[in-house]
Amino acid sequence: MTLVDLGHLGLDEGAHIIIKHAIDQLPSGASVDICGTHPALRVHLRAWSRARGHAFEDVDEHGAVARLTRGAATGAQLRNSEPAGHASLAVPGAVVEHPPRHWGVAARGASVEQGGPDPFFALDEKWRVWSDDAPRLYAQAAASQWDPATAIDWEAPLQHGEVIEIAVIQVMTYLIENEVAALVVPARFIAQVHPHFREVMQLLAIQVADEARHIEAFTRRATLSGRSLGLSTVGGRQSLQTLIDEPDFAVSSFLLSVLGEGTFLSLLSFLEAYAPDRVTQRVAQLALQDEARHVAFGIGHLRQQLDHEPDLRARLVAAVERRHDALAQTSGLNDEVFDALVVLAAGSLDPNAIARGWASVQELQSDMDLGRRRRLARLGFAPEEAEALSALHTRNFM
Ligand SMILES: [Fe+2]
Ligand SMILES: [Fe+2]
Repeated sequence: MTLVDLGHLGLDEGAHIIIKHAIDQLPSGASVDICGTHPALRVHLRAWSRARGHAFEDVDEHGAVARLTRGAATGAQLRNSEPAGHASLAVPGAVVEHPPRHWGVAARGASVEQGGPDPFFALDEKWRVWSDDAPRLYAQAAASQWDPATAIDWEAPLQHGEVIEIAVIQVMTYLIENEVAALVVPARFIAQVHPHFREVMQLLAIQVADEARHIEAFTRRATLSGRSLGLSTVGGRQSLQTLIDEPDFAVSSFLLSVLGEGTFLSLLSFLEAYAPDRVTQRVAQLALQDEARHVAFGIGHLRQQLDHEPDLRARLVAAVERRHDALAQTSGLNDEVFDALVVLAAGSLDPNAIARGWASVQELQSDMDLGRRRRLARLGFAPEEAEALSALHTRNFM
């Protein structure tokens, strides 16, 4: 006979944990004797056992006050549950193709008791969200989080003149609104992803945190010399609004991550190269590292989705054309931004310098186009198709 001695511990003080552990070790129908000196022990044990389907018996031998016999109903909760895949991706089938709604926020790998809420997740099919790269990209993202307060030497001197500083501020003003759009878009989709696809949800969340830091770093750089921010144009905001309004996850990833953030890789490299001061150079460099991950996830999951949904390619083409038509009447890139980029590359208003700056911005644009075509090729677009699509991409870059 198993004997459990509770000492003076009562069931209102956690004694049930000890008893439960002892009973869990027993086969159904086996008994355990409970010893203890708590004055209400017998009364509490009787109620506790009844609630859990164990037989209770008064005893008064070798210091025991009660004998509990394990009932058949023990573990009913567990038997009435199902495993929600597996926590570890190393286990084959850990991530299921179509997790049921009622798994809801349960941990992947938990035993999920039947019943309960039945939440709706629009993105509840693996092929629509998953990328085998997501866990690696998440780990990489978590390891690369930087603190704007310490990662950038905000005390580094600004030795350039006012013309250059105003150009930096205009570019930062433009970057900030693009970063806001890049934050809002994944933020909207996070709540639509079934939490079973944990790594994707986490990756999108950390992407949102990345953009929050970019907004902070660019704002801080823009205000570093105490001047007002630059111009935000209707055309820029209209272009970004078409991204924010896109309801489809695949199309949105394509427009924002593959084409927009992809184009920004060239822009941030350009800023890093032509930055007139160490702060600007560093914020561009840090944002660039993060953006490369955002682009990688967009390409990764779209590649997997394209394998599953061959029609997707036509939908993506249609989306680029639709966006181009919607923006045809707008001016595209803010003239002030274009000119600011020329001035940054020129370094001064000297005519020869401006000519060089102008050429550098032309080069930047062809670099952007080349990058887009390369990424489109990775998604399986034929060269002519990639060329045509790249040419239709918004003049606002993002
Ligand atoms: Fe960003
Ligand atoms: Fe981004």
